[in-house]
Amino acid sequence: MTATLTAAMTRSAALEQMIARDASQFRVLTGDRPTGPLHLGHYFGTLQNRVRLQDAGAGLFVLIADYQVLIDRDRAESPGEVAIGQVLDYLAIGVAPDRSVIFAHSAVPALNQLILPFLSLVSVPELSRNPTVKDEIAHSRQSSVSGLMFTYPVHQAADILFCKANLVPVGQDQLPHVELTRQVARRFNERYGPVFPVPDALLSAAPLLLGTDGAKMSKSRGNAIALRATADQTARLIRGAKTDSISHVSYDPAARPQVSSLVLLAALCAGRDPVAVADEIGGGGAARLKAAVTEAVNERFAPVRARRAELAGDPGYARQVLREGCDRARAIGDATLGEVRAAMGMSY
Ligand code: TRP
Repeated sequence: MTATLTAAMTRSAALEQMIARDASQFRVLTGDRPTGPLHLGHYFGTLQNRVRLQDAGAGLFVLIADYQVLIDRDRAESPGEVAIGQVLDYLAIGVAPDRSVIFAHSAVPALNQLILPFLSLVSVPELSRNPTVKDEIAHSRQSSVSGLMFTYPVHQAADILFCKANLVPVGQDQLPHVELTRQVARRFNERYGPVFPVPDALLSAAPLLLGTDGAKMSKSRGNAIALRATADQTARLIRGAKTDSISHVSYDPAARPQVSSLVLLAALCAGRDPVAVADEIGGGGAARLKAAVTEAVNERFAPVRARRAELAGDPGYARQVLREGCDRARAIGDATLGEVRAAMGMSY
């Protein structure tokens, strides 16, 4: 484990104590690229955590990172439709539109304008050694790397700082971006005066869920169980999931990643310990395991899916929630940009 990761985990534990004492001191921002339906990996990795923070009293901003989709594709496919689907997913899991703000990059000009001064605060070598960006470049399906690929972490700093968020719940891969955001905030404050908080990353405790093919669960790999999947679709996906040749079911993530990920999924859904779940299935083998996982997922998500279907019945509703969220984000972005201009001596 790297030193950065260990430090982030220690810091996250301290932050959890502060959250338990008084969550209202935190403004949380996080988001997702609208590239397709949100899935169970998102849910247990981050979505559930957001709702927990909201319900504990933190201010929650949820970003539909539509401009970020442009990093490695020529154009986003039906961005409007995907964004509305994403809003429905957020609402179904419990993001409350009267307390939290759901908004999109493209609707908040002031947020995007922060990139310009922010870019002046980072060096090209800093941008090119970002490990997450390097990894994305290595896996990119484009023949050449766009300028946005190198600069999107600075854009992400603008996402976080435009609303002065001080807490960013993320997975490990996003740590370099939060670190960059902290640098940008510090350097801006040093150069122009105190405007921004220096935000903390909050690592989620949930372990990584694998997709049905044994690789990381991902929208683009086609191995994901969507939050909005029906009970039948869920059963079919889980029936097709990879297991291994040992018939006795056990929980051993290092040696048996696929079987263990299925056990973990059932355990997460039922709020149980994975070892106990595996012991119970034991000699029942893969068929019994898959039946148990399917039942656990379908039971856990039945209310979410029902709520989503109900909300989707009124097509105007999700759009209105998004519009109102964008209006609120715009007002906040304008105020911050005003402060930034004043600090820079550029209020005319
Ligand atoms: N990069 C994040 C992802 O791919 C999405 C994102 C955009 C984000 N802006 C953010 C996450 C700001 C946290 C904070 O999942």
